Amino acid sequence: MSATHISKLTLTNFRNYANLSVELRPGPVVLTGDNGAGKTNLLEAISLLTPGRGLRRASYAEIAREGGDGGFALHATLDGPAGEAEIGTGVIGGGDADSSRRVRINGAPARSADAMLEWLRVVWLTPAMDALFTGPAGDRRRFLDRLVLAIDANHGQRALDYEKAMRGRNRLLSEGSRDGAWFDAIETQMAETGVAIAAARAEMVRLLAVMIEKLPGDGPFPQADIGLEGELEQAVTTLPAVEVEEKFRRALAEGRERDRAAGRTLDGPHRSDLVVRHRPKAMPAELCSTGEQKALLVGIVLSHARLTGEMSGLPPILLLDEIAAHLDAGRRAALFAILEELNCQAFMTGTDAALFSSLAGRAQFLSVDHGAVVAMG
Ligand SMILES: Nc1ncnc2c1ncn2[C@@H]1O[C@H](COP(=O)(O)OP(=O)(O)OP(=O)(O)O)[C@@H](O)[C@H]1O
Ligand SMILES: [Mg+2]
Repeated sequence: MSATHISKLTLTNFRNYANLSVELRPGPVVLTGDNGAGKTNLLEAISLLTPGRGLRRASYAEIAREGGDGGFALHATLDGPAGEAEIGTGVIGGGDADSSRRVRINGAPARSADAMLEWLRVVWLTPAMDALFTGPAGDRRRFLDRLVLAIDANHGQRALDYEKAMRGRNRLLSEGSRDGAWFDAIETQMAETGVAIAAARAEMVRLLAVMIEKLPGDGPFPQADIGLEGELEQAVTTLPAVEVEEKFRRALAEGRERDRAAGRTLDGPHRSDLVVRHRPKAMPAELCSTGEQKALLVGIVLSHARLTGEMSGLPPILLLDEIAAHLDAGRRAALFAILEELNCQAFMTGTDAALFSSLAGRAQFLSVDHGAVVAMG
């Protein structure tokens, strides 16, 4: 039995696709075509089958096709051990392109985008993430939280609740409010949700570290030592959650004057960071070469895919944009072998089909050209 996969994808007014309907098979899917053909756009569409704004974090107005009606839609048929499911999402043209998108599952409106997580998990690796280890901490936090979300579907709501509370606190700070009861109420919420976020992250890092041990020590994707920088993330590994909550709540209350001067909340899980080291080289990831960083990241994502599969029974759908570009022939072969073993649907793009030739007969090859997708061979 193959894992949950997309068997059919239909796009309407999505980026450069006016209308597209493509049948897909489980296992590796190779998308090749010239620059600007629409390969990344197709992956972006699939990335919207999980909560959030997709792999480019684009606004819905940007996604809606130029020259279209201002809206867009995508529709996926899923097939897997749990049977078939239909997921549709999009925004309607004419005014609400930046309101939140609608999600329908099996014909019925979903409460929220989180409901899609019951059916599938999607994880991606894009060229923009090549700078993950050297770039701002916020990018690593987002990456980390997306990894958590794939194994813990409640994580997205936690993050939203925390941010909402923090925005409320920041507003009080900027208004110069001294309303102690209001602060207390908001900070209690921040402590509850903030500690839940930190605990979920710490748990994910712990489990992921176990999976990373399974990568061969001298293999093409080096083992990473991963850790979390953040007071709460540290505290939850040694203290009971209620105690950490109380400490954080007190720290927030005592930090009001300082935060008022700064104009924002200075402490909390919104400031945490993911710290990665290249174990064989005993080097911080940010000091490794471009190729070494890529190999580290691939190792983390593949280990995470294995973790997701084992924990939720839902191996994720992987979106690997331009994955072959940085990998030498040996690493490409190793990647293909691991994907086969993971048994997940993995979309890989590239301008050069030759880089995927060793997958002949084992993958679906699609050619992308100006918003059209056709089977090759
Ligand atoms: N809202 C939109 N409406 C119409 N076309 C769009 C829209 N947004 C982006 N495009 C176009 O879609 C085309 C395909 O973009 P995409 O990023 O998918 O290309 P690609 O095949 O991944 O190319 P590359 O190999 O360079 O990464 C681009 O020419 C881009 O300008
Ligand atoms: Mg691209």
